[in-house]
Amino acid sequence: MELSVVILAAGQGSRMRSKLPKVLHKLAHKPLLTHVIDVAEQLAAQDIHVVYGHGGEVVRDALSDHKVSWVKQDEQLGTGHAVAQAVPRLIDDHVVLVLYGDVPLTTKATLEQLLAQVSKTSMGLLTAVLDNPHGYGRIVRNSDNAVQCITEEKDASAEIRKIPEVNTGILAVSGGKLKEWLGRLKNNNAQGEYYLTDIIAMAVSDGIEVKTSHASAVEEVEGINNRSQLARIERYYQQQQAEQLMMAGVTLKDPARFDLRGSVETGIDVIIDVNVILEGDVVLGDNVAIGANCVLINSIVGDGSVILPNSIIENSVIGVECSIGPFARIRPDTKLANKVKIGNFVEVKKAQVGDASKINHLSYVGDSIIGKDVNIGAGTITCNYDGANKHLTEIGDGAFIGSDSQLVAPVKIGAGATIGAGSTVTNDAPENALTLSRSKQRSIDSWARPQKKK
Ligand code: UD1
Ligand code: CA
Repeated sequence: MELSVVILAAGQGSRMRSKLPKVLHKLAHKPLLTHVIDVAEQLAAQDIHVVYGHGGEVVRDALSDHKVSWVKQDEQLGTGHAVAQAVPRLIDDHVVLVLYGDVPLTTKATLEQLLAQVSKTSMGLLTAVLDNPHGYGRIVRNSDNAVQCITEEKDASAEIRKIPEVNTGILAVSGGKLKEWLGRLKNNNAQGEYYLTDIIAMAVSDGIEVKTSHASAVEEVEGINNRSQLARIERYYQQQQAEQLMMAGVTLKDPARFDLRGSVETGIDVIIDVNVILEGDVVLGDNVAIGANCVLINSIVGDGSVILPNSIIENSVIGVECSIGPFARIRPDTKLANKVKIGNFVEVKKAQVGDASKINHLSYVGDSIIGKDVNIGAGTITCNYDGANKHLTEIGDGAFIGSDSQLVAPVKIGAGATIGAGSTVTNDAPENALTLSRSKQRSIDSWARPQKKK
């Protein structure tokens, strides 16, 4: 049977106390709703319908690159009403899976297990047994343990409120049945809402068995209502990822102080020190070591390279056996070849640096093409910006740039050239020659230091 997913995301999320709709708040750098859409995609859903509410255009715009159908719920009249908005787009012989835009961590495996409960004579309901079931709809079973109905907390007797098994809200049912039942929903309950949960009793009276399944962890079915819950779920998620990485052979000095906000591919014997953040798509080769407090964004680090503490690397490619940092900043579009050394307080932007070249201290290198075996002395600056345009600096193989030099781009330094320390280079420097631009040094014997007035 083909699958359609309906994601409810019309809630305002007022407890977030935010201008941003709740489902756009991020978990591991990805909107909550995107986590839910991603799992729906992993399940190979034919259609994904997202029910959004008042002001939800922001949500639509933010997720415009996702292939989903957007369904507007003008007034929030309950979960049943919300799903009913998608009914004209639902196909009778599809299985319909209902998910929630603020429940981000349900796994593919849990949902596959739930979907396996659906047949011509049965539907699936994801439930959880909680120590504190307060606030949730309760699963009411008969003496044969068969599910009879769901009773919302506000409609429940004291007896029913004692039931620890709760409705997670996530369910799966055939499209035809769902449509029929939604058409029969009434709102004569404590909250005056059309409850999706009322379809359970309808299923039972139509002879459809309600089969339950559980998630492997309660966090998988936890909804996020405030920033405290968001932080807790973030920690859980990070812990899960850290665990997976360690099982895959990565050393994390402290799994509680590691954040993966995206994906990482790792070679063997990668070592990651504390407070490292990996964001976007990161690739770390064999034996890569990352020091404390580093941030790597959408970058590739080659085998054996070492990133020393407090360095930031963004949208860049680092070759094999390089050494970066401490306190280095590698900005987008940088490509370092192999055995390159970038030292402390060096900023590199949109630059290619050839094999074994060194930029060891306090330099800015931007918009540059640097050959191999180049030595760039401390305090070198490529003056790449004239206030209007960026210009290229080219440095040939084996060049030596003396400390505290300014290379005013566009400019070419020939292979094997030496630039004297403290030079301001405004014209191309020839190969294998010494080029320098500094005033001649002189000493004045007769000079005396000024004396303080009495
Ligand atoms: C619902 C369930 C309850 C379950 C609980 C789990 C019903 C009637 N109750 O209760 O059994 O234990 O979830 O968290 O379904 N939404 C809309 N449009 C609406 C109403 C809700 O899109 O008109 C969305 C909300 O954004 C939210 C979700 O549906 O993401 C759940 O709605 P909420 O009002 O929080 O339901 P609960 O009362 O918590
Ligand atoms: Ca809720």
